[in-house]
Amino acid sequence: MKIAVLKERRTGERRVAATPETVKKFVGLGVEVVVEADAGAGAYISDADYQQSGAAIASDAAGTRDGADVILKVRRPIMDEADRNNELAYMKSGQVLIAMLNPLIRRADCEVYAEAGIDAFAMELMPRITRAQSMDVLSSQANLAGYKSVLDATEEFGFVMGAGVAGLQAIATARRLGAVVSATDVRPAAKEQVESLGAKFVMVDDEESAQAETEAGYAKQMSEEYQKKQAALISETISKQDIVICTALIPGQAAPVLVDETMVASMKPGSVIVDLAVENGGNCALSEMGAVKEVKGIKIIGHANFPARVAADASELYARNLFNFLSPHIDSENGGVSFNFEDETVSGVCLTKDGAVIHPMLCTKG
Ligand code: NAI
Repeated sequence: MKIAVLKERRTGERRVAATPETVKKFVGLGVEVVVEADAGAGAYISDADYQQSGAAIASDAAGTRDGADVILKVRRPIMDEADRNNELAYMKSGQVLIAMLNPLIRRADCEVYAEAGIDAFAMELMPRITRAQSMDVLSSQANLAGYKSVLDATEEFGFVMGAGVAGLQAIATARRLGAVVSATDVRPAAKEQVESLGAKFVMVDDEESAQAETEAGYAKQMSEEYQKKQAALISETISKQDIVICTALIPGQAAPVLVDETMVASMKPGSVIVDLAVENGGNCALSEMGAVKEVKGIKIIGHANFPARVAADASELYARNLFNFLSPHIDSENGGVSFNFEDETVSGVCLTKDGAVIHPMLCTKG
């Protein structure tokens, strides 16, 4: 069996889908691993490091993927550019692709994977169950994003919007640096988690919020009436903060806009807003993807891809998630990969199989 690790080609993407640690583990299972030259450079891993762990280095993407059963990547393949930059051209029918594929937003891509005969697995869809924690890429990457967001903004007071994985890590990091922190979320379950980290929890607590959490633990889109009440609460809180960290997301939808222009203007000059949700449209109406702006003396940080800003750690954790996901399905005796579709960590993330889109979330809606 052969696993290919491609170099990421998206602008600013410094992470890599395998590390010397996971290469060594795959090789230990009898797998041949081929890494594209320079794939680890952004995460400070050299080709020689991979070679020492037992990988072969291929000089280009086509050579890396040739004959591979499984392709490991960080981000969804670039498909909209011709020739050299079209990453789908580096994949062949029958190959398994495991990456963060953003399928709920990029639904049309899934048809393309199916047509190309690629069995695609989107790691973001991993069920949030205890057994799957070691494969949970959303958590491993959001955790680092939450940490880095505070380091990017360090000051004295902080307000965190969205107390999921990134938000809780932002609170914990800010508390360790001695900050006085408050946080908000729409899910009442977040209250106890926020308070256990020594931060104050504020939220609109009404009948709707009692139903705000889906069975999978995610937030729902809230009604207009709720949004108005929430805006009043945020307006009241935000003007007293030096740092606001925005992490609120709703899977498959645009991020809720929680901080408008008036709220930004109510903050003291010198304050900082970090918008981790910027890639999904942003929680702050003024944030701009990939930019650090200043509006009336308030800095609004909209870096794209926070995990790539800590690429070495992010790659290490991501690569482990991939190993933990894939390794139970490697057939060391017969030399191939054979996924057990009875296992919900497999059925939960598999988008396409044998030329068809099979994930229930993609087959039922639009
Ligand atoms: P996420 O990244 O989808 O959203 C971040 C946070 O934003 C969430 O806490 C969400 O409630 C909040 N949010 C959404 N809309 C909002 C709004 N309008 N105003 C304020 N806050 C808003 O969520 P994440 O971090 O991926 O966590 C999702 C769930 O999964 C949580 O319940 C978490 O505890 C759970 N989880 C379970 C794990 C496990 O058991 N294996 C591992 C990691 C997370």
